[in-house]
Amino acid sequence: MSDAERTFVMVKPDGVQRGLIGDIVSRFEDRGLKMVAGKFMQIDEELAHDHYGEHEGKPFFEGLVDFITSGPVFAMVWEGQDATRQVRRMMGETDPAESAPGTIRGDYGLDLGRNVIHGSDHEDEGANEREIALFFDEDELVDYERVDETWLY
Ligand code: TYD
Ligand code: MG
Repeated sequence: MSDAERTFVMVKPDGVQRGLIGDIVSRFEDRGLKMVAGKFMQIDEELAHDHYGEHEGKPFFEGLVDFITSGPVFAMVWEGQDATRQVRRMMGETDPAESAPGTIRGDYGLDLGRNVIHGSDHEDEGANEREIALFFDEDELVDYERVDETWLY
């Protein structure tokens, strides 16, 4: 695949607590995206500030940091053609109430602050690579061929 792209995705604490990791992973697997890294972890205050730095000073920022550090998350890197934008399309809108049924947020959320999943912003150039580097060391990204890639591209 010539234009493979990697993107950062994370099941947020509400998604973990509600047992949605498996379903969310399945959706990306079924779509043909390839997982190249995955880590079950607890985000600390410092990482939360680094990850959501663009929102510092906004009225929802402190609540967002409290929420994202409130329990474990499942952080992942997914690879595929146009991966960043396609993951965002599968996620739906930031506000689950505005997200179409069939999208992850549209199927599992109702509240803006509890929207189950994070994915790198495709409109923010380089956000995917920045977020991958923030959460993963280079040697945690696994290079391999997925058996169905030949038939997908
Ligand atoms: P943002 O980066 O705008 O959305 P997205 O997750 O779709 O990239 O905001 C980051 C998170 O902050 C968002 O997932 C939920 C939370 N948030 C609020 O709680 N209130 C708000 O008004 C906004 C815009 C975001
Ligand atoms: Mg964002």
